[in-house]
Amino acid sequence: MRKIIINGPCEISGELEVQGAKNSILPILAATIISRGECVIKNCPNILDVHTSLEILNYLGCKTKFEDSTIVVDSSQISKNEIPENLMCKMRSSIIFLGALIARTGRAKLTFPGGCELGPRPIDLHISALKQLGILINNIHGNLECKIENKIIGADIVLPFPSVGATENIILASIICEEKTIIENAAREPEIIDLANFLNKIGAKIYGAGSSKIIIEGTNKFNKINKTEHAIIPDRIVAITLMAAAASTGGNLILKNINPDLISSAVPIFEESGCLIKTHENNIKIISPETLYSVKEIRTMPYPGFPTDAQAIIMAMLSKAIGTSVFVETIFESRFRHIEELIKLGAKIKINGNVAIVDGNKYLSGAKLQAHDLRGAAALVIAGLASYGKTIITGADYFLRGYDLAKFPNFLTIN
Ligand code: EPZ
Repeated sequence: MRKIIINGPCEISGELEVQGAKNSILPILAATIISRGECVIKNCPNILDVHTSLEILNYLGCKTKFEDSTIVVDSSQISKNEIPENLMCKMRSSIIFLGALIARTGRAKLTFPGGCELGPRPIDLHISALKQLGILINNIHGNLECKIENKIIGADIVLPFPSVGATENIILASIICEEKTIIENAAREPEIIDLANFLNKIGAKIYGAGSSKIIIEGTNKFNKINKTEHAIIPDRIVAITLMAAAASTGGNLILKNINPDLISSAVPIFEESGCLIKTHENNIKIISPETLYSVKEIRTMPYPGFPTDAQAIIMAMLSKAIGTSVFVETIFESRFRHIEELIKLGAKIKINGNVAIVDGNKYLSGAKLQAHDLRGAAALVIAGLASYGKTIITGADYFLRGYDLAKFPNFLTIN
């Protein structure tokens, strides 16, 4: 496995542009197969999960090109409606091709998705919702064989949890239905809004994205060949990562191409730790304090609450803060695997169920670490940048699944 090598400490200062959002480009790439035309997607991050999505699109018969942050997908010819396990297992977002394939071909055959090991990560909410739309789903030895029974029927679907992926799959599968579909308790993440905006450009009629009630008025007007252009929103989790890297290393950093509203739930946490945050239209400036202070409580919640994807990242930052910070992880069952690695650097952290208690230690020292998931890897990178001496992180590909090195501080050596 490739490694990340950091010789710390490295002050993260200056200006950086935030990459396009991984959790926006992935569902939108799946959605391009519905357009039947040419889609030009701008501000795409050069990350491993995007390349996996392009592999899936090529396998299905699309023509794709990725140059200078722009991806062009020609989905006029689709030759398959199944995705092999070796592609499905590489990321969680492969499951979103289920809804897109149903909308385009009426059938889909795929296995369970892969993705970060954050607990069991079931897809029961996807399956129960898609069945309400009239889709037959048989699980035959781990292969999901799906097809529209007669026709997609409109439904009023109430999600027991605002699942991001389930919301996306319902939207994708229902946009071809002649009747109306309503999603209650829908996920409200900005990436849902971005997906809906893209789909409305190719002819869908989706209202209320970003709220907990989304209405999809079906249409079958996707068969005209046309050209669609769309720019991906900035990655709010990468923005928080870069801010935490600056705060952990005593840096002053300006982030460009980021709407400050996207990270509004994280700003109070940076301010409570002693950072000065200045926001202006599409820029954010963070000035870190001489000494970081602890934050009373960080509780992860569905959007617009504090994002679970930033939990490990902020924990790495506060591992250096004076005082005790309490983290409560409410979204995933097992999202603390970065803690055993942070402790190797000298962090003082105790776990009690879904609660982690961090007693800051101003001086962390480099060590050999193992990454276990994407955001956990980002946390180890931040802690490595803030530690004295060499840090070697095994599992670089976890980090590269979501972070575009061209838009990250060049203190990392990958080999
Ligand atoms: C998306 O994952 C993101 N991934 C995750 O980001 C993010 O952490 C998560 O949403 C929550 O915000 C992408 O968008 C590609 P969920 P997803 O369905 O859709 C349970 C990253 O680092 N659940 O909202 O898989 C589930 O187990 C990644 O960028 C069910 O029980 O998240 C979890 O506890 C990590 N049954 C909770 O809901 C289901 O059918 C949230 O899951 C689906 C989910």
